[in-house]
Amino acid sequence: MRIDVVTIFPDYLAPLDLSLPGKARQSGLIELGVHDLRQWATDRHHTVDDTPYGGGAGMVMKPEPWGQALDAVTSDDCVVLVPTPSGRPFRQADAERLSREQHLVFACGRYEGIDQRVIDEAASRWRVEEVSLGDFVLNGGEVAALAVIEAVVRLLPGFMGNPESIVEESHGTDGLLEYPVYTKPATWRDRDVPEILLSGHHGNIAAWRRQQSLERTRERRPDLMP
Ligand code: ADE
Repeated sequence: MRIDVVTIFPDYLAPLDLSLPGKARQSGLIELGVHDLRQWATDRHHTVDDTPYGGGAGMVMKPEPWGQALDAVTSDDCVVLVPTPSGRPFRQADAERLSREQHLVFACGRYEGIDQRVIDEAASRWRVEEVSLGDFVLNGGEVAALAVIEAVVRLLPGFMGNPESIVEESHGTDGLLEYPVYTKPATWRDRDVPEILLSGHHGNIAAWRRQQSLERTRERRPDLMP
């Protein structure tokens, strides 16, 4: 999979060199390009923002540098992802769908956002998805792009050391939150691991975990209840 990120803060994407995504890059499983938007700003000050038409607080990202940037880094069948709090919620099913794509391009906006014509024109040429990480506001799309990239890349065949840990996790196949997990020692600060987990009875353990998942989901995320 090829991934390109356009941003005015390329350093924000440095964590992708670390840990598992870093290994995936080294092994060639993903090819990553991080591009500074300002290289496509033609004026002396490399301006990328301007005041909003219609007035209001904050600045809007100018269309010209974005148009040049997307012309340069896209391919015919890429998906352009625009992280924004006004996007559609990004879910595990989206990560799974995107993990089957050949080329993802992330357009990371700052300030009050990118001139809408950039998004509209891009949508006439490529598949464009404006995605939100949740009902909160970040300073820009970079942290959201990092999160989406990690969610997608870890699903690529050959990425995870143990592919089963992908199946048994929150937002995995059954759509419930994951059950609580424990490891040794069996007693820690007077707190015991639930006895059933020490029983060796796989059927009972599976039933207990399912029950825990249901209780957690009902309490924390009633919207996910089956
Ligand atoms: N950019 C700023 N806030 C965001 C959010 N909540 N999700 C995705 N991108 C964002």
